Amino acid sequence: MSEEVTPVEIAKYAAARKAVEYVEDGMRLGLGTGSTAAKMVQLLGERVREEGLKVVGVPTSERTAALAREVGVPIATLDEVHWLDLTIDGADEFDPQFNLIKGGGGALLREKIVATASDRMIVITDVSKEVEHLGAFPLPIEVVRFGWQTTKALIEEALINLDVMDRVGTLRLDRDAPFLTDEGHHILDFHLRRIGNPRQLSLVLNQIPGVVENGLFIDICDVVIIGRGDGAVEVRDINNGIVESDRVEIGESDNIFRDLG
Ligand code: A5P
Repeated sequence: MSEEVTPVEIAKYAAARKAVEYVEDGMRLGLGTGSTAAKMVQLLGERVREEGLKVVGVPTSERTAALAREVGVPIATLDEVHWLDLTIDGADEFDPQFNLIKGGGGALLREKIVATASDRMIVITDVSKEVEHLGAFPLPIEVVRFGWQTTKALIEEALINLDVMDRVGTLRLDRDAPFLTDEGHHILDFHLRRIGNPRQLSLVLNQIPGVVENGLFIDICDVVIIGRGDGAVEVRDINNGIVESDRVEIGESDNIFRDLG
């Protein structure tokens, strides 16, 4: 294992490895996007290669699709599979009710479609993503390119009447050009600092013409697996209130950190 591996990397790896234990033969899986989800896809690939595990994955981004192909996880489109047993994905923030902010990696639209089409969603994360109230992480809002500045103004106007602490929106850039999602849309990142009522905010945002989807995931996540820098993991299940602790042993043979940035 490389000496440059940070505690956060170990925490993400530990959460990903614990999550992959929930995968059973024959499952149809939603494959998330981001650095934590990438570790999960890599580990899933190991199980496919070493144990002959039979699964089919629906990737939530082109990036994840490419990684799944590379590590040997069979993939399909959501329209081919229709419904999924389990989605495993990362998050940018989660609160005590398991409401999430997602979309830091720009894949929130496909992520939300895939997670909603799943019997169960497991979020894998390190401790830094846990918050009492969502909103310190800027809320990504996916908007169509046509008239995006007008859409941004309409969002700002709607926010005046909502329980948020700030309402500064910025167009996400990819170097000097506007960022484009896999579906060809733009992303506006809204710095709200504190979101008092995520459910209401999500409903209001999605009524604005030009908004495709927002990064608030409400009542979608079932289980959060929190990894720590020493390999400890905590599994919290919101449906039965059970909290379990475990530890993931990270051996010298684990090459996951070398393979993924
Ligand atoms: C991708 O669009 C996001 O929703 C990611 O799941 C989220 O940003 C977490 O990413 P990391 O696992 O890289 O922190």
